[in-house]
Amino acid sequence: MSALPVPAEIADPEEVFACILDPERRGELYPWYHRLRELAPVHPTRALRNEVAYVLTRHRHVDAVLRDPGVWSDRRNVEIFDAGPPGIRFYRMMQRLLLYLDPAEHDRIRGLLSRAFTPRAVEARRPRIRQVVGELLDRVEDRGRMDLVEDFAYPLPVVVICEMLGVPADDLPRFYTWAHGFARRGDVSDVTPERVREGESATEGFRGYFMDLIADRRRSPRDDLMTALVGLRDEQGPLADEDIVASCVILLQAGHETTADLIGMGTLALLRHRDQLELLRREPARMPDAVEELIRHDTSVQISQRVAPHDIDLDGVVVPAGHVFVIINGAANRDPEVFPGPDRLDIERRPKQHLSFGLGRHICLGATLARTEIAIALETLLQRFERLELDTDAPEYRASLFLRGLARLPLRW
Ligand code: HEM
Repeated sequence: MSALPVPAEIADPEEVFACILDPERRGELYPWYHRLRELAPVHPTRALRNEVAYVLTRHRHVDAVLRDPGVWSDRRNVEIFDAGPPGIRFYRMMQRLLLYLDPAEHDRIRGLLSRAFTPRAVEARRPRIRQVVGELLDRVEDRGRMDLVEDFAYPLPVVVICEMLGVPADDLPRFYTWAHGFARRGDVSDVTPERVREGESATEGFRGYFMDLIADRRRSPRDDLMTALVGLRDEQGPLADEDIVASCVILLQAGHETTADLIGMGTLALLRHRDQLELLRREPARMPDAVEELIRHDTSVQISQRVAPHDIDLDGVVVPAGHVFVIINGAANRDPEVFPGPDRLDIERRPKQHLSFGLGRHICLGATLARTEIAIALETLLQRFERLELDTDAPEYRASLFLRGLARLPLRW
């Protein structure tokens, strides 16, 4: 790493934004967000696209843009995943994902999907989530150490969503490989020919598998989410098979790394703020508030993108119609205007206005499931291992800024 500049010494917002994008600086990201917010809260940049995009770091701007019913995450945002003909299957799948559909199609599919993927369906899974968490920790307990990411945080959400869909346990190993390949290909900061190949094979794997599962549930319905998806219909008829496949892919992909990353970064934050960890141990009823604060403090989905449908004036900076907003949720979550002492982890805070699940039309569909998994994971971890400690001085982050997370988190007890 080059000699580290200090944020306060840099006066050029584009230079600050370059430090934000720098994969070497993942561990010290937040001071850079603060600096960019101070210098240029609406920052025009060409660093991400050939055209100018506007980077937002202030909470009230992010809130206003996400809530604007005219603003949506249109198909242009999916172009960043276009890697040419060798990556066409992945790219086509991304075009069908809920997150990138135009409003009419989005609202229809989201409306149907949320009839099957309900908070009640999630609540019914609570005992099974506890069981999976327990089983994962049983496997490592006697070892006295683990990599929290690989051994615990990563498998949990994949098992949970696969079981909800009705994927048999024997098929899970294939899902780990596909989910990983798909996620790596989605990291636009590092697209290599090998990752493009892995992305194609993950897409084909998902598609073939879910098509077979759809056919199976049509023949023999069961009590699972896939059967519910197959049965959905509105005045336009049932969901097309390709839309069911895309819905399964987004539930799996939007739900696994995000949740795993929050379990990882949440554990790290608690281990670095021992007073908060001890408070939570003494008063476990604080867990729901603690989860909310951990999600605010260091979130996985750092960036969302939107297109301005008309000129939008943000405190005097006019973003012209047709231009892209690069919305930094993680920076809005640390805006001192809304969260006093924003860098402090404070589980007594009620950070209701955090933007980690987005807002408006595309607000996270899986927030209830994510909160449930994170709460059960942290609660069990803290109860089981009273002497839990970090087994590293410098936790290693993945390169991606869009989806922030730890590559590894060695722990001992
Ligand atoms: C802590 C974990 C999670 C975080 C931080 C998170 C964050 C987000 C954010 C910020 C968005 C909006 C993106 C945008 O506006 O561009 C989103 C959308 C979405 N999330 Fe989550 N998510 C999490 C867990 C989950 C889970 C567990 C699921 C489901 C199993 C899920 C399913 C979805 C879906 C389907 C969308 C797209 C909604 C739409 O386009 O209408 N997420 N998530």
